[in-house]
Amino acid sequence: MTTTKELHLVRKPEGMPRPDDFRLVDVTLAEPRDGEVLVENLYLSIDPATRPRLSRGHELDTPVMGFALGRVVASRYPDLKPGDIVRSAQGYRERFVSDGRYVGKVTPDPDLPLTVYLHMLGGVGFVAYGGLLVIGKMTAGETVFVSTAAGAVGSAAVQIARLKGCTVIGSTGSDRKAEWLRSLGVDHVLNYKKQAIGPAVREAAAKGIDVYFDNVGGEHLEAALACMNPLGRVAVCGMISTYNDAPVGVRNLSSIIYNRINIRGFVSSDFDELHPQFMQEMTQWLKSGAVQYQETVTNGMESAASALIGLLNGENTGKMLVKLSS
Ligand SMILES: NC(=O)c1ccc[n+]([C@@H]2O[C@H](COP(=O)([O-])OP(=O)(O)OC[C@H]3O[C@@H](n4cnc5c(N)ncnc54)[C@H](OP(=O)(O)O)[C@@H]3O)[C@@H](O)[C@H]2O)c1
Repeated sequence: MTTTKELHLVRKPEGMPRPDDFRLVDVTLAEPRDGEVLVENLYLSIDPATRPRLSRGHELDTPVMGFALGRVVASRYPDLKPGDIVRSAQGYRERFVSDGRYVGKVTPDPDLPLTVYLHMLGGVGFVAYGGLLVIGKMTAGETVFVSTAAGAVGSAAVQIARLKGCTVIGSTGSDRKAEWLRSLGVDHVLNYKKQAIGPAVREAAAKGIDVYFDNVGGEHLEAALACMNPLGRVAVCGMISTYNDAPVGVRNLSSIIYNRINIRGFVSSDFDELHPQFMQEMTQWLKSGAVQYQETVTNGMESAASALIGLLNGENTGKMLVKLSS
């Protein structure tokens, strides 16, 4: 028997989640039985996608849904042994027993920190890569606009676009994040909290936009659509502006017709076949320093609710993580 802490959803949030929508709960776990594995989570991945689910479909009094990176403590599961590193989708838990569903072994590169497997070498790096190359059909010499450019997905996307020879426009919500984006070589950086996004994008995109990598929706999408070049592509990765608040209507959808724009939402399984190429290229970029990253890390399950609320408030630069163990 082992005891562990979990963060449970106890009330469906309206608007921005509040700390008392969640409760820290002590749970006792039984030893793993045949076919089961006991995992100790090292880091929780704090992701915007958790937010819409909290109001739609998430059961109350169960762990908040989310991903984590952990280490196998005990195993009676055939493909896992103590010490193995695993990525899982078992929610905000310090430890859990699983029958192996939603638990995948990671073989970490000894020259890279483990946490990169929750961002640049994880799902967020891969959606940035495939979103630009497959959905956005980005080619060298084009102009690419990325919103939430200093976040986990955005900071991967702007650097991939630069490395593939594109001119990059990035929007973010603070001067500190804007400064980091400039240091990464982003050609035009906008702070949408200080500048009206429409005119700012228009000024930055003097030659128009060929690919808009949308993480925000609403006014950002409207601003991008107003500047798309004919046959431009909008790769819709996320719409964070709608996760807490009612969506803002996009008033210029007709430009999709006039400029023959292709607009498409996606998830990473749309381009699974690209994964080996992505892992190889991103590993090389990380090792050479061509791709850089930042992490915003809070400590302990006690901080998980505030980390999620902080992410939605823009407090993270790069990837938001909660450290649970080393
Ligand atoms: N399609 C997929 O498979 C997939 C996978 C992963 C993530 N996503 C999506 O990708 C987007 C980014 O995710 P992430 O994990 O990289 O998160 P992130 O960008 O690291 O963190 C969220 C950021 O969103 C910005 N933000 C919050 N509210 C906003 C608003 N109303 N308007 C504009 N910006 C706002 C904040 O930065 P600022 O300082 O810039 O405001 C905040 O730091 C999200 O939309 C997410 O849902 C999609």
